[in-house]
Amino acid sequence: MIGELLRSRAAALERARRSRLYVELMRGAADDADAGGIVASIFEGDPLTPASVPELRLLAALHHLVLRGDAPQLARFFPSAGGAEPPAGAWEVARQTLAAHAPCIRDRIGRTVQTNEPGRCVALYGGLLWLSERHRLPIRLLEIGASAGLNLNADRFAYVVGGATLGEPASLLTFNEPWEGLPVADPVVAAARLQVAERAGCDRAPLDSTTGEGRLALQSYIWPDEPERLARVAHAARIAARHPVRVEQRDAAVWLAGRLADAKPDMLTVVWQSVVNQYLEDDERAAILSAFTSAGAAPLAWLTLEPPATADGSDRFELRCRERPEGNGSGEAPVIARAGYHGPPVVWQVPGS
Ligand SMILES: C[S@@+](CC[C@H](N)C(=O)[O-])C[C@H]1O[C@@H](n2cnc3c(N)ncnc32)[C@H](O)[C@@H]1O
Repeated sequence: MIGELLRSRAAALERARRSRLYVELMRGAADDADAGGIVASIFEGDPLTPASVPELRLLAALHHLVLRGDAPQLARFFPSAGGAEPPAGAWEVARQTLAAHAPCIRDRIGRTVQTNEPGRCVALYGGLLWLSERHRLPIRLLEIGASAGLNLNADRFAYVVGGATLGEPASLLTFNEPWEGLPVADPVVAAARLQVAERAGCDRAPLDSTTGEGRLALQSYIWPDEPERLARVAHAARIAARHPVRVEQRDAAVWLAGRLADAKPDMLTVVWQSVVNQYLEDDERAAILSAFTSAGAAPLAWLTLEPPATADGSDRFELRCRERPEGNGSGEAPVIARAGYHGPPVVWQVPGS
């Protein structure tokens, strides 16, 4: 089963013309698993649900070893570690590395995928502008499944839109023309008006981007031949060091219910989540919805950036927003934009635009 999954993910990756190294490693791992090799033994006892993305857990475990300096032979193939050798030949070295470090690899594949992707802020920031214009209130931003909390600093990144710079113009992290269409009529005016007054997050297993180990873990979930994404995380971690945001180690439903109990009438509380749904049990998803729909009368909005509920064959995520007390608190939340897996480009389709 793991062999089949790895093979189909490798084919999808190849169709999307992404990471030749990971295509090579996934194919090698698939054949090894089918033959009952080290990959089969590493995943023994793992439920292997596709939503838990076993292939990313395996590759992140290998990438972690490489970045830590514990797999110098394999590092020759990993651009993130300075390697420049072509991917052909990488699998045999990876197989030997897995065999030599099996206990450590087993420990790491037991962890949830922790891709904290600052690129998703191009959707979040536009959503905040839209909400800020509609409500004309300062925002209290609450993120569930925040990982290291890098995206809670969304307003501290720079966004070049139509030639104008929104957000924090001197930011270390800049997104250049990430939007098609606009979330608001005048983004410059909306950006000047946006005020994020409070921010906080929770995660079942938060990472700490202010530590070397935390940064290494964050980098390990990024593909080694995607330097732009590696740089984004490094920049966002530097910004977080200057503007730390607390991410509490709590499950989403319980944490959110507590936070929503303090929602204030003179602020818009915005709940944000990106790529979290697939990791939640049905009852936790229901408890999160119930925490939102049963909260008091203070203004609330819930922005979600998630894959479509039924796979539509596209490589787009949907940005949806539900609001309370007015609007569609319990009905289906409307789509206000579509975005790439890692953010850009965002295509806006806000109501009325
Ligand atoms: C793929 S990561 C996405 C991180 C971040 N939202 C982003 O888009 O950059 C999913 C995150 O959800 C967290 N998570 C999974 N189940 C959770 C739960 N029940 N409560 C809180 N966080 C959870 C994981 O630990 C992980 O950090």
